[in-house]
Amino acid sequence: MKELKDQVVVVTGGSRGIGRSIAEKFAVYGAKVVIGSRTISEVDNTVAHIRENGGLAEGYALDVGERVSCSEFVKQVYSKYNRIHVLVNCAGINSRFPAEDYPEDKWESILNINLTGTYRMCQEVGRQMILHGNGSIVNITSMMSHITAPYQGAYAASKGALLQYTKVLAVEWAKHNIRVNAVSPGYIQTSLSANVMKLPEYSNNLLKKTPQGRFGKPEEVAEAVCFLASSAASFITGVALPVDGGFLAGHPHIIPAE
Ligand SMILES: NC(=O)c1ccc[n+]([C@@H]2O[C@H](COP(=O)([O-])OP(=O)(O)OC[C@H]3O[C@@H](n4cnc5c(N)ncnc54)[C@H](OP(=O)(O)O)[C@@H]3O)[C@@H](O)[C@H]2O)c1
Repeated sequence: MKELKDQVVVVTGGSRGIGRSIAEKFAVYGAKVVIGSRTISEVDNTVAHIRENGGLAEGYALDVGERVSCSEFVKQVYSKYNRIHVLVNCAGINSRFPAEDYPEDKWESILNINLTGTYRMCQEVGRQMILHGNGSIVNITSMMSHITAPYQGAYAASKGALLQYTKVLAVEWAKHNIRVNAVSPGYIQTSLSANVMKLPEYSNNLLKKTPQGRFGKPEEVAEAVCFLASSAASFITGVALPVDGGFLAGHPHIIPAE
């Protein structure tokens, strides 16, 4: 990943979980990483950790749910570096409720952060990438962009739409030399998924359905993001790469061999 050295890489939701691993991995490859999320103490903590390990990192408060926050954040990055080469949209939330009772405020905030937040950041950063004549964007989608599950109405709607939006941007901005791809993580161990994974009746079932028989690690998602962001993927745009231990390919343990 030599080509990532000195690239300015923005990671939304870069303060913890998958986003933090993505930020750390880009820093290991020599990128200048800028992270943003709402909890500034976590942003500062991650920035300090990357710097302690010899990486270059900055961090600012960011709420992708608010247009003003997105434009202020991008202004701060430009005043520091005057460029953004790579944008990774990782900020995301989830809540599960039965469809008939799905609370409208939860629905709106999930759509606002997961989908509209990515739209805002792509616009704010994409305009500058168009002026510079190149760039690479990676959106963090989900298996719920491809398949569904009960109680995931808002999340699956947001992530399904995000995959379609990723493809639209890829097609529309190819002429500006901007590639736009997605990474669809499977079940990855983070605080977002912890409440499901700690319950054996659910986690054992999920593990049985995962061909590789284990949950993924945030750093395994990060490697895929770095690949798609880098010029190693120079002829790849508009794809969603699953990092899911084979879950989307099919489930083992269903019908035995004859
Ligand atoms: N874990 C999984 O199994 C899994 C599977 C598929 C897809 N994903 C996706 O991967 C992404 C990261 O998930 P994760 O598991 O790492 O979750 P996480 O540990 O809860 O981290 C979420 C990150 O997003 C930030 N964030 C949330 N709302 C934000 C907002 N309005 N503005 C800016 N930042 C915001 C959080 O910081 P603040 O709360 O401080 O803002 C945090 O940094 C999400 O898009 C999620 O949908 C996760």
